[in-house]
Amino acid sequence: MPVNGGMIVLVVEKNILMMNLNLIPMPASIRFMEGAFHCAGLPKIDGDPWFKTETAVFCGQMRMVFPQEDSGVYIALKRMPQAEKREYYKLTIRPEGITVEAADEAGAYHGLQTLRQLFMTMDAEGLPCAVIEDYPQFPWRGLMLDCSRNFFTVEFIKKLIDALSMHHLNKFHWHLSDDQGWRLPVEKYPLLTEIGSKRRDSRLIRDVYRGGFYTAAEIEDLIAWAAARHVEVVPEIDLPGHTSSVLAAYPGLGCTGGPYRVEERFGVFDDILCAGNDGLWDLAAAVFDTLASLFPSNYVHIGGDEVSFRRWAGCPKCRAKMEEWGVQKVSGLQARITARLAAMLTERGKTPIGWDEVIDNEEESKKLPQDLIIMSWRGRVGGDRAVKMGRPVIMTPNSDGCYFDYKQKDSPEEPGQPYPKPFSLLYDFNPVSAGMTREESALVLGGQGNLWTEYIYASKIAEYMIFPRLCALAEALWTPQANKNFEAFSRRLAVHNRRLESLDILYCRH
Ligand code: ACM
Ligand code: ZN
Repeated sequence: MPVNGGMIVLVVEKNILMMNLNLIPMPASIRFMEGAFHCAGLPKIDGDPWFKTETAVFCGQMRMVFPQEDSGVYIALKRMPQAEKREYYKLTIRPEGITVEAADEAGAYHGLQTLRQLFMTMDAEGLPCAVIEDYPQFPWRGLMLDCSRNFFTVEFIKKLIDALSMHHLNKFHWHLSDDQGWRLPVEKYPLLTEIGSKRRDSRLIRDVYRGGFYTAAEIEDLIAWAAARHVEVVPEIDLPGHTSSVLAAYPGLGCTGGPYRVEERFGVFDDILCAGNDGLWDLAAAVFDTLASLFPSNYVHIGGDEVSFRRWAGCPKCRAKMEEWGVQKVSGLQARITARLAAMLTERGKTPIGWDEVIDNEEESKKLPQDLIIMSWRGRVGGDRAVKMGRPVIMTPNSDGCYFDYKQKDSPEEPGQPYPKPFSLLYDFNPVSAGMTREESALVLGGQGNLWTEYIYASKIAEYMIFPRLCALAEALWTPQANKNFEAFSRRLAVHNRRLESLDILYCRH
């Protein structure tokens, strides 16, 4: 056996021993050594002041695992001068203590989350001594939660973000507006929340209204809470379609003038913001100013999905706008609107993201700014096209298991949309498509799962839809391809489920 720094290193078949730690996602590398680490209570944490926030968050998380204080063993956090990969960490477990080394704060946090997982399932045998070296395959590792179709509390979103961060996911895409509810307070447009945040509950004969919105203070609190966990909160305001809630509040912004209502049904509606009404730009400016003042993220998602062109086609103001802009097809209006919204965000120092429909009009989409990120959801086609245009892409294809609103099993007992996909399909999801060139794959920022909530009216159901899909997604976005194996993952998941249980997370048993 090779000897390394006075310690004996066992080089063993990867999938057998790596499985012992039952980590999800599987790290880039684990080397086992002789001996074990034991601790019965909260270890003493000796954190580099550089990693003050990470240490504080970890200590809070550990209070759930070790109710009693002070075990005598130590955890040391050390700052490395540099690392080849961003978010890299090295975790060394020895009998006398554990060291986490990282060059950046995100790396330190990931190292501590790996340790959190290990402590959560540690038994009387302690932890095997080992060196773990780890870093992500993709910088964008996200989850989208639709908070319009169902309004989720800040408390639940915090619980979800904490779980994301335990799996090394780092983006929370917050879907804040849709036909069924507007959730962002905008000072210049108070009716967006006064009227647009509530809808009639169509399941009842009685008039009962449901909904809500997030106050500026709640949004800031959530962002700070997520930032301490190295999760970036990326807001989405869906424009110009999926806007019944806007039209109910400001009917003058529609093509027909209404009347409109905050939708209580689900689907794609013909009534959208009128492309020929300059009020659209005033609204967008006020919304973007609000987002820029509340959200530190560089990204703003402007939606752009499922825009019905029916009203625009029959609207004299929209027709006049087509003439003014010199666009031939109605779909060209959407591209022009996207271009202007994107420019407004650039002025505010933000990078725009749109659903893949924003490049549907081939000719017009050539004029869109080059930094506009395409989020590919109708399969991979939009993303594949976007990289050919030299655009950055986030893959979240409904064809590959990234739609967490789809049923997890083909059974009438299951909640969700009736398009079940095998769990292993999501596990095998690769944001880079087969056949992409090196340059094209460099444009793929990563991927994410989306939970649309037309069918999800309680956070417990949301948890059931998200888990354990989130675990498979984390491995798809973090773990090197060579370390992936669905059978081994399934065995690790059987133990990992205990971690989900201790966080009071409801999950589907496949
Ligand atoms: C979408 O699923 N409409 C983006
Ligand atoms: Zn119009």
